[in-house]
Amino acid sequence: MAQVRDEALQAQWAARRTKSAALAERARQIFPSGVTHDSRYLEPFPIYVTHAKGARKWDVDGNEYVDYWMGHGALLLGHNHPSVLQASSEQLAKGTHFGACHELEVAWGELVQQIVPSAERVKFTSSGTEATMLAMRLARAFTGKDKIVKIQGHFHGWHDYAAVAMEPPYDEPISRGIPKAVQNTVLSVPFKDVNALRAILDAHHPEVAGLILLAGGAGTEYLQDVRELTRERGIVLIFDEVVTGFRYAPGGCQEYYGVTPDLTTLAKILAGGLPGGAVAGRADILALFESRDDPQWQRFGRIRHPGTFNANPVSAAAGIACLNVVRSGEPQKQAIRTAERLQRAFQEILDQRGVHGIMSADASILALRLTDGKVSDRELTRRLRIALQVGGVDFDGASFKVSAVHDEADVQQTIAAFTQAIELLGKDGAL
Ligand SMILES: Cc1ncc(COP(=O)(O)O)c(C=O)c1O
Repeated sequence: MAQVRDEALQAQWAARRTKSAALAERARQIFPSGVTHDSRYLEPFPIYVTHAKGARKWDVDGNEYVDYWMGHGALLLGHNHPSVLQASSEQLAKGTHFGACHELEVAWGELVQQIVPSAERVKFTSSGTEATMLAMRLARAFTGKDKIVKIQGHFHGWHDYAAVAMEPPYDEPISRGIPKAVQNTVLSVPFKDVNALRAILDAHHPEVAGLILLAGGAGTEYLQDVRELTRERGIVLIFDEVVTGFRYAPGGCQEYYGVTPDLTTLAKILAGGLPGGAVAGRADILALFESRDDPQWQRFGRIRHPGTFNANPVSAAAGIACLNVVRSGEPQKQAIRTAERLQRAFQEILDQRGVHGIMSADASILALRLTDGKVSDRELTRRLRIALQVGGVDFDGASFKVSAVHDEADVQQTIAAFTQAIELLGKDGAL
């Protein structure tokens, strides 16, 4: 019976998405599983989007959605914020790459320096993954040590060192293809467990170069302890603020919690919705990038960091426009207010229907955890995404990234779609 009902929901959903189905068929002949980012995978096929504006986006079949992907978290100001759109399109007309230094990169870097507390110096990259990889290399080069401590389950992108301790069992990397030698350079501890951290640092600190973590939801007390433990042992403390940077507060979690790391990794909001990332931090550590008139230093002392699209003028223009808006702190407050409202409404819907689930809010990001589904978690997420899309809402299956431009109509539509989705999942036996 449950199967039949699910098929009915899926048939209703698929009937209005025939053009997406056709594109997915073509995509499967090119891309493994048809997708260009793991989290966009959806059975039986993902939607294909043609355009977006504000908090909304439209697919090739003309369906409209309230969007909670928000550029994987990059779009705190929503799709096509007028000043970001104007700055980036004006820059497109002037040139996309000069193979040269340019004024926009200076202005972009100055903004990061002014807004992010730890940012004495800045180095731009093209993505968050590049930023965390570079921060780890900096920590290693600065200390002359090899090991990095990370927190179990914390995501820092897709490079080899970040693939370690992502999902249980934590001693197995999340991906094939990670050399054992790399795995052996990364130690991991549970989140917010100061004793476990102290123990691993006591056991290994002569070899530990850096500690990287997501500071979102960590709390001031824990971060102060982490700060002290790392400072005492000369370990480079890295906050990965790729998501939380400019979102918790203009200066990210380090401003919000009042704890300053040695290095910070940034991306997403940093570049206003275009590709871009950065490592920012202590001047004495970033001095390792300097060129000097000293052959010994040039060959053996410094860190090399090329990158064709580092600080490209279009990303810089978008980033400057975006940071000039977010630096006031108002967009963050607006997004957090909306997120809190949605969180209360979602939790009420779950509680009223006796569905075991938790909707938690971390600043303007809501995380949904349904705890006693009657189907696998993966299948439950799949059905929820489809049921929400039927109601005109799209999210990534794990979190709702709320922007400063989700308005009352978006909130109302979201609450109605969530109510309907939970009822549909209940009826089809998934909950
Ligand atoms: C906390 C965190 N760090 C790093 C990354 C990697 O960033 P990118 O996807 O730009 O490589 C992500 C991506 O979602 C992230 O959430």
